[in-house]
Amino acid sequence: MKNDIERILIDEAVIQKRLDTLASKIEDEFPAGPIVVIILLKGALVFASDLLRRIPRELSIECLNVASYHGGLESSGKVDFLDRHFPEVKGKHILLLDDILDTGRTLRAVADRLTEEGAAAVHTGVLLAKDKKRAEEVEADYIGFEINDEFVVGYGLDYKGKYRNLPYVGVLKLSAAN
Ligand code: XMP
Repeated sequence: MKNDIERILIDEAVIQKRLDTLASKIEDEFPAGPIVVIILLKGALVFASDLLRRIPRELSIECLNVASYHGGLESSGKVDFLDRHFPEVKGKHILLLDDILDTGRTLRAVADRLTEEGAAAVHTGVLLAKDKKRAEEVEADYIGFEINDEFVVGYGLDYKGKYRNLPYVGVLKLSAAN
């Protein structure tokens, strides 16, 4: 796996340190009371599991399966909800977590759906945000790192299902993207 990585963009220690800061920001800023955390599968799993263990607050966890990349290097432009059931969010304060903010379509579609379903408030957190013009008007409330517009893998992010278990975020070699 390591041989497929062009360069490490954000190493493990830097990620972990940043999560300390993000977690205390969330703890300080979130309204009092329990939080319902919605994790977007599968990319946000690793980020969420490290982040949530740093938040000393009552919270519950829900996962949502949405697809926008369909296994490639470019967003397909369409967000599909793949679950048969949608979590109960009416009147709840939501922390919606995704791995990366790219075109913005995923976060926009899921945040809109949560609002439609009656969530009291939807706050969003992403490990990475690509520095680019978004297709949708959306920014995350909590951002781990801003990165250039290039395809990255590791720490939850995949290419064709691989590399999610790398402990760092890296840029994939072009030769590995085939
Ligand atoms: P949008 O475009 O909806 O994208 O903001 C969000 C989803 O697209 C995937 N994505 C990536 N996955 N490396 C990846 O492994 C990337 O560089 C990348 N950019 C976008 C990701 O699933 C995210 O949830």
